[in-house]
Amino acid sequence: MPADFKRYTVTAALPYANGPVHIGHLAGVYLPADIYVRYLRAAGRDVKFICGSDEHGVPITIRAQKEGVTPQQVVDKYHAIIRDSFADFGVSFDIYSRTSSKTHSEVASGFFRKLYQEDKFIEQTSQQYYDEKADQFLADRYIVGTCPNCGNENAYGDQCEKCGSSLSPTELISPRSMLSGNQPVLRETKHWYLPLDQYEPWLREWIVEGHKADWKANVYGQCKSWIDQGLHPRAVTRDLDWGVPVPVAGAEGKVLYVWFDAPIGYISATKDLLPDTWETYWKDQDSKLVHFIGKDNIVFHCIIFPAMLKAHGDYILPDNVPANEFLNLEGDKISTSRNWAVWLHEYLQEFPGKADVLRYVLCANAPENKDNDFTWKDFQARNNNELLATLGNFVNRAVVLTHKYYEGRIPARGELTELDEHVIREMSEYPGRIGQLIDGYRFRDALNELMNLARLGNKYLADTEPWKLIKTDAPRVATILNIALQLTANLTTLMEPFLPATATRLLGMLNLEPRPWSQAGNSEVLASGHQVGEAFLLFEKIEDATVEAQVQKLLDTKKANELAAAVAAPAKDDISFEEFQRMDLRIGTIVAAEKVAKTKKLLKLSVDLGLDEPRTIVSGIAEHFLPEALVGQQVQVLLNLAPREIKGIQSQGMLLMAENADGTLSLMQPSSAVRPGSGVA
Ligand code: MF3
Ligand code: ZN
Repeated sequence: MPADFKRYTVTAALPYANGPVHIGHLAGVYLPADIYVRYLRAAGRDVKFICGSDEHGVPITIRAQKEGVTPQQVVDKYHAIIRDSFADFGVSFDIYSRTSSKTHSEVASGFFRKLYQEDKFIEQTSQQYYDEKADQFLADRYIVGTCPNCGNENAYGDQCEKCGSSLSPTELISPRSMLSGNQPVLRETKHWYLPLDQYEPWLREWIVEGHKADWKANVYGQCKSWIDQGLHPRAVTRDLDWGVPVPVAGAEGKVLYVWFDAPIGYISATKDLLPDTWETYWKDQDSKLVHFIGKDNIVFHCIIFPAMLKAHGDYILPDNVPANEFLNLEGDKISTSRNWAVWLHEYLQEFPGKADVLRYVLCANAPENKDNDFTWKDFQARNNNELLATLGNFVNRAVVLTHKYYEGRIPARGELTELDEHVIREMSEYPGRIGQLIDGYRFRDALNELMNLARLGNKYLADTEPWKLIKTDAPRVATILNIALQLTANLTTLMEPFLPATATRLLGMLNLEPRPWSQAGNSEVLASGHQVGEAFLLFEKIEDATVEAQVQKLLDTKKANELAAAVAAPAKDDISFEEFQRMDLRIGTIVAAEKVAKTKKLLKLSVDLGLDEPRTIVSGIAEHFLPEALVGQQVQVLLNLAPREIKGIQSQGMLLMAENADGTLSLMQPSSAVRPGSGVA
């Protein structure tokens, strides 16, 4: 890491307090940020890890309207859920603040006022959509319409989520209000704009010349294409009643645009944390500012916020913005509105004590360079085959054998073999190797190196077989276990950024205090004679049934979504009463049922319809009902459908069924049993 930085200001995107956090947020933003920060702390760096809830903006007010509560109630509820679930997941923020705080509104207003007084804004009056019924201007997501680029009928006023193009409300075809559904009218309104076009040459130099080499390719590429397309003035105020009021005269009913106030939230949170020294972390050139975000936030953190900071003049700029791509879930895009997600607070409840398992899987699978997929099968496999079989197993063998042969005391080592020397040398190289990868924001590779160290330990024990040697060469076993235990001790430090709860438990088992990163390659951590605690399992096997239940939960969600989205078929053409009367509809009782041989779908039914003999009816319902379950059931039958031969059987009528949107069938039964043959009219 470059020595010219004295301290680190690390931010993680402020989550909107309009819903809980899911695994996509974790894998993309909060987990890598936390690994980075924990590593820096262990390396003895001065670092502050800043986050909080983003409590303004239209997503919040829309949610409030939907739930019939106030915006404040929405943010209070989700702020608490998000804050607590992050804490339980081991995300080690130095502060988790919120943008509805007093400090924030002061800092954000002060920021705006300074730019205003220094004439950094353009003041402009324009025509904007207004909902006359709701008596309100329609900012951003309050307006929907057809995307001019792809034809999506539900594009938002600021963005089309289908084709990804960024829009302005007046570009939408047939716009409608989210509030009333009405067609809005255009009305004049005044706003303040940040003239991004004026910052274009500077941005180009800073990003294209300055950061082409050290920013991730996906981040650099997005920035470059924005700049190449040409930048335009951006409104930084809105006509809304939820947000930080615009702090100048003549701006009644206007608030700061959420993307203007939210990133300033990083600064105000730092001020809340360090009322006296916060400026060091934001103004000193030897402070390194790093923003962890998801890819949908790149333009705001790499172009708009830096332009704001530049316009202000007092602040440092981000040194890096290691944005990730997206994580999918079981092959589908994660979606809050479709409830297609694994919610953190639910996971923590359903998998108590297993935060580290999720941390491991999400890091091993992190969408660092391309979108990636989370599956429950992979979750299970990584727990059982990697955490348990490699890491847990190695630690367990070393500690169990130490108890078995040496009453839990570290044995003294004797003369070293070439293999011992090799393991000691290898071990000494891991802290540097893992640290370098973390410094370069390559968390997946870093985690893999951590596992390689555990693999090295496993192989060492497998190759030397101390459990056999003990009978023939006891002094050799002392040396082997001594080295294996040193490795175990070093693992505590190296795993801590990734698996903090496990690291704490392992320290407890080894009866050891946390140690700095610089010591994590040391092969003489544990003095001989040091007493270790009882061995216990660091990880548990995850059973098939556990992950199958999670998959079932998702299938249920999918089904619920399909049902919710299903629309009834349009009505058919009218028929006359006489035509209706020609249908002979009856209730019958099924007296026998069997599968039609060599078919998958067909059942042959005998139905008592009160006639001389039961009628034979062939029906394509074998995939929905077991024959034995049908016997005795009453059903509705169209009696006078012309007989047809199906698979060599005369079918003399038709069973009527209700078909659900998901294709499931249900019998049409009278609400109480009736005499077979009763007419339906
Ligand atoms: N709330 C935004 C989101 O979830 C992120 C805001 S980041 C900040 O996408 F910089 F504006 F704070
Ligand atoms: Zn579109």
